[in-house]
Amino acid sequence: MFDKKVYIERRNKLRNEMNNGIALFIANPEASFNYPSNTYYYRQDSHFSYFFGLNLPGFAGCIDFESGEEILFGNDFDIDDIIWMGEQPSVSELSARAGVNQSQPYGNLPDYIASALAKGRKIHFLPPYRGKVMIELAALLGIPVTGLKAESSLELIRAVVKLKEVKDSLEIAEIEKAVDVAWLMHTTAMKMAKSGMKEQEIAGTIEGIAIALGGAVSFPIILSVDGQTLHNHHHHNILQEGRMLVVDAGAELASLYASDITRTVPVGGKFNRRQREIYEIVLKANTETIATIKPGKEYRENHFQAARIIAQGLKDLGLMKGDVDEAVAAGAHTLFMPHGLGHQMGMDVHDLEGLGEDHVGYDEHTRRATDFGTAYLRLGKKLKPGLVLTNEPGIYFIPALIDKFRAEKKFTEFIDYNKVETYKDFGGIRIEDDVLVTETAYRILGKPIPKTVDEVEATAVQQREWLKIEGLF
Ligand code: GLY
Ligand code: MN
Ligand code: MN
Repeated sequence: MFDKKVYIERRNKLRNEMNNGIALFIANPEASFNYPSNTYYYRQDSHFSYFFGLNLPGFAGCIDFESGEEILFGNDFDIDDIIWMGEQPSVSELSARAGVNQSQPYGNLPDYIASALAKGRKIHFLPPYRGKVMIELAALLGIPVTGLKAESSLELIRAVVKLKEVKDSLEIAEIEKAVDVAWLMHTTAMKMAKSGMKEQEIAGTIEGIAIALGGAVSFPIILSVDGQTLHNHHHHNILQEGRMLVVDAGAELASLYASDITRTVPVGGKFNRRQREIYEIVLKANTETIATIKPGKEYRENHFQAARIIAQGLKDLGLMKGDVDEAVAAGAHTLFMPHGLGHQMGMDVHDLEGLGEDHVGYDEHTRRATDFGTAYLRLGKKLKPGLVLTNEPGIYFIPALIDKFRAEKKFTEFIDYNKVETYKDFGGIRIEDDVLVTETAYRILGKPIPKTVDEVEATAVQQREWLKIEGLF
């Protein structure tokens, strides 16, 4: 938890953005997985954590935008809680750490909300995503569960996006630490990517690194030689030479700030000609579209720059043909990269996505496209200093998509389907970095993770050492 001044300032800034009513933030409760008291890893709601700093269940925070009153609702641990879970500071002590002057028992929350509603006050809340929170909000506000999303506060969503998307130096330092954990996760995966190794062994090992360094993974690890499946959470394959291993994995720290990094390594550590050719195109798309990041420029432009680099590279290999600009304008590149160049990140790996991607990655000037592929671009709007985003181009050979486009005779003037058929066993390649938009340009965050062909090969031939934490941060 940061110093209480951080949370006081964040709430003051929120107050400046809002005109009236009361904001209600409910801390995430524990979530059960197979019976009530057997719970998943506890994860606080990022918005509650941002404004109140407490990564504990059993709290709700209210901010009255007219009176200025702030209240944390929560219950002190009783003797049973202490016996089973250990001691915890009192609610008034925890409130003081968050810089909140007033605390009340959790049981007072329904009356507080009911009395505000009776006075015609507006209760602002963000779109909920946890079942228990939805049930609680529905009961507190008298709104059916199915109506909560529509009744959530657009004013609060806009204010929270405005504050949270610009990261300060404390937040950037946390994200950099999370990238440093990812450095160890990814270099370890590269060293383990040997023929005969099971994907599950590597996935389990690198998830263990995130936990051993005090946090968790920031999303379920994507690790597969079937990298053509973009979000592949199955780790059942045994590695064999000739295949590429895509590892898309990041850490989140105790502060909840995240990293999101992808590296692709040839099994056995040496690229063959075909792998190197495709890899160099993706690498160029990654490095050249990072190099043009700057404030005031729409990230959508970087996305199409990546699309052109990929189309040109594939044309040079004979997989695509015709005019590159026309191919990209028609969307032919989406056969190979059917996703967007990146998204914002912070406390959530897809930062603020739960508030509605169009409120986060787009604005009144930049609207989301609806055509296949480009519609998946999560961040299209103009960049500004303080945004942290991912840059993650890829080339994938997805047999079902190749068959579909071919059967539909799509983009036949831009794609050599006979040649593409010969790559159906290739898999995919993605390279992803986390980048800060600075006042003038950009900065790639964290300890550099091997990325060029030479760097990846030099790392992959090394033996894995046992976890070494000292000196990492
Ligand atoms: N880790 C999922 C993504 O790259 O967006
Ligand atoms: Mn990723
Ligand atoms: Mn990503």
